[in-house]
Amino acid sequence: MNPVRKAVFPVAGLGTRFLPATKAMPKEMLPVVDRPLIQHVVDEARQAGIEHFIFVTGRNKGVIEDHFDRQFELEMTLLERQKHKILEYLNQDLPVPGSTSFTRQQEPLGLGHAVWCARELLGREPFALLLPDVLVQHQRGCLAQMIDAARDLPANANIVAVEEVPHERVDQYGVVGIGERRGKMFSITNMVEKPTKERAPSNLILTGRYILQPDLLEILGRQERGTGGEIQLTDAMIQLARTQPFYGFQFDGRSFDCGSKIGFLAANVSYALARSDIAPEFRAEIKKILGEVDD
Ligand code: G1P
Repeated sequence: MNPVRKAVFPVAGLGTRFLPATKAMPKEMLPVVDRPLIQHVVDEARQAGIEHFIFVTGRNKGVIEDHFDRQFELEMTLLERQKHKILEYLNQDLPVPGSTSFTRQQEPLGLGHAVWCARELLGREPFALLLPDVLVQHQRGCLAQMIDAARDLPANANIVAVEEVPHERVDQYGVVGIGERRGKMFSITNMVEKPTKERAPSNLILTGRYILQPDLLEILGRQERGTGGEIQLTDAMIQLARTQPFYGFQFDGRSFDCGSKIGFLAANVSYALARSDIAPEFRAEIKKILGEVDD
């Protein structure tokens, strides 16, 4: 497969499930421990070797752009106060100049439409798509695992990360039907967006990490509205799968659906417990809250 250099991050969503927290702040800036959701996902893309980060934003999302820029006043203050460690930490996160692009989805017409809005920036090469609602916790990030696994696949292959969920929850996701399996990778025979339990081809869902060929963008350009009146990415992928190979990849690690309150809160607990600087104290606090130890 050809190298994957560019990644798209759709960040135009309204975040209604987190109101009032998201009234004036983008949901992608909600912190999981001390890093915004979007920073965790950009970290994952960086680890996978992505060089160009394309954000599809919307109105009221300006602070995402600011987050990936320098903050001179803050830097000067930290310097004056001799806070060198935190300054170094901030600088590590700073993208290489010119490696970020921001474009806007003017109307909320769905995920497929958001990806299509990035078409001029993507050009004619395979690209990664990462949905910031989903965090995958693992030492080797989900996208890096996918790129590792894609090495031996044909140049025109498309790969989607998948995972099992209980059958009762398939109606919240894109669901795939599977064919021949080779280790963690298998060919995809079918995809359906948010099917009923009865119509779902399996209980393997699309997790929100994709490696896609640029031909998808042309399909998206003529795609009609599907489920929920939105231009669905899954519908365009189904069309592309008629002419190009599609693979599902079962990644290592635990995923958190941070688009839901429970998933977001669970991610915070899990990421905090994985941090050696705060885990011991935090664990004790949780035990206290759960009434497992006395004050
Ligand atoms: C989107 C995709 C869906 C995928 C999900 C993962 O749905 O359309 O196929 O399974 O993300 O989180 P959304 O969560 O935007 O409704």
